[in-house]
Amino acid sequence: MKILFVCLGNICRSPAAEGIMQHLVEERGLQDAFTLDSAGTYAGHQGELPDKRMRVHAARRGYQLTHRSRPVRESDFFDFDLIIAMDDSNYHNLRRMAPTVEAEQKVVKMIDFCRRHPYYDAVPDPYYGGASGFELVLDLLEDATEGLLDSLTAEKS
Ligand code: 4NP
Repeated sequence: MKILFVCLGNICRSPAAEGIMQHLVEERGLQDAFTLDSAGTYAGHQGELPDKRMRVHAARRGYQLTHRSRPVRESDFFDFDLIIAMDDSNYHNLRRMAPTVEAEQKVVKMIDFCRRHPYYDAVPDPYYGGASGFELVLDLLEDATEGLLDSLTAEKS
């Protein structure tokens, strides 16, 4: 199963989603079954490590984020089984970019996998906010990655 996490800049939310999911997959001994990556709909941070604030907040929870930002490319829609958008804007941009109907159907929303945060409809962009925004992103992503992995492993058994 190949999963691509997508946000706007690929320096805050989606590299955190990738790192948290990788951690969870390894914790469950499932690393051979998953290939994970992340990308952004905006190319302006290409080549950069995740935002320092995101790296610091993630490290406090045991996640080392080492991804380098890259933009979404057309081949992603063929290479990945699932393309997971952090918010509605990412979701609609990805749906528009999808080269085929089959590819469009691979695009889903990260928030839909949350089980403990019923009052959110997106993983909110933390870039222009403070520390609490980064903590909220991590809370939502820990919830969503668990929901995602449980739903994928339940499908197989
Ligand atoms: P991300 O956060 O989409 O979670 O990586 C952002 C990163 C950069 C910008 C906006 C959001 N920006 O405007 O440069």
